[in-house]
Amino acid sequence: MKYDVAILGATGAVGQRYIELLEDHPWFDVGVLTASERSAKNRYGEVCDWKLSSEMPEKVKNLEVVSTSLKDVKRTDQVDLAFSALPGDVAGPVEDEFAENIPVVSKASAHRMDADVPLIIPEVNPEHLELIEVQKENKERNGFISTDPNCSTIQLTISLKPLMELGLSEVALTTLQALSGAGYPGVASLDIVDNVIPYISGEEHKLESEPLKILGDFEGDHIEESDIDISASCNRVDLKDGHLESVWVDLEDEKSVDRVLETFETFEGPQKISRLPSAPERPLEVMDEKDRPQPRLDRNTNEGMSVCVGRVRDDPIFSIKYSCLGHNTIRGAAGSGILHAELLEKEDYI
Ligand SMILES: NC(=O)c1ccc[n+]([C@@H]2O[C@H](COP(=O)([O-])OP(=O)(O)OC[C@H]3O[C@@H](n4cnc5c(N)ncnc54)[C@H](OP(=O)(O)O)[C@@H]3O)[C@@H](O)[C@H]2O)c1
Repeated sequence: MKYDVAILGATGAVGQRYIELLEDHPWFDVGVLTASERSAKNRYGEVCDWKLSSEMPEKVKNLEVVSTSLKDVKRTDQVDLAFSALPGDVAGPVEDEFAENIPVVSKASAHRMDADVPLIIPEVNPEHLELIEVQKENKERNGFISTDPNCSTIQLTISLKPLMELGLSEVALTTLQALSGAGYPGVASLDIVDNVIPYISGEEHKLESEPLKILGDFEGDHIEESDIDISASCNRVDLKDGHLESVWVDLEDEKSVDRVLETFETFEGPQKISRLPSAPERPLEVMDEKDRPQPRLDRNTNEGMSVCVGRVRDDPIFSIKYSCLGHNTIRGAAGSGILHAELLEKEDYI
């Protein structure tokens, strides 16, 4: 028997990716699609401006989109789990409402830094799911909210996790972020064609704060954040999918390029994650070529679920520098959300 899932914000860039990736999922069946009042009460096939190169799955074409309220969703179907792909400024109270009764896996920023809400990358900090019990008790709710990090944070933090054992202390990075990261319609073409915009609202703060929670330790009822320092500078570039990041790191214990490469190459995350249906063969894929990773060539590595790292080299100021690349709507969004939900199922949270 499969779980019936709802996608909140199903018509957007991330919502569409959820629908694509869940089409033949062995455990989850998409039964409910929500969007704003603008789209509600229309068939998904009529109201959704499908932007992916795959065909819109037949099954969703005739589903009626409902407004994003628990009342409307409940009337439509029995839902076991909701994937939230709502805008950050809408998600807060809506996710709280759903979490009264059902588990919510959220891509939105609204609850990410709440003290009793897990912020999960399955390969990095699955043990933080234990915060769910704290949250249920604090909020006296039957369901819960468990969040996914920002897209740029996910790929960065997967690459930082193996470096923790080499004494990671400081990180500086600059990002080149794709247009789909801004949702649809996103940035106006006249602003971005032939251009780079050196500003993405809220992004630098997310990159400087979220990894500290993810790389922190679960201490029974709270997360003790990591004390590494991070400085981020973010740019929007004229690219459809895939965020590229240049990263500089200071390592206190081991600074050699060979040791860093070995740590990247052998990083697997916990075994229980690698057995989940959406887990990539390797969370980190190391590229040897001198000019890789590149977004167009490498963003779909392992179905878009691996983070590609390359250009690992010495740096005259920091210990090491490297480049990392992730597919922002797959590894950075819907793919990670699905892997997160698979982990919740395996650990008996749903
Ligand atoms: N894009 C990425 O690469 C990415 C990566 C990581 C995280 N995220 C996060 O994921 C979330 C979704 O991003 P996105 O890029 O998919 O955004 P998007 O393309 O703008 O889609 C937003 C979705 O939310 C719905 N919505 C808008 N206002 C609403 C309201 N007042 N009530 C109910 N539903 C409403 C929209 O429905 P209508 O079509 O009816 O307007 C649409 O389905 C955001 O929180 C974003 O920060 C995005």
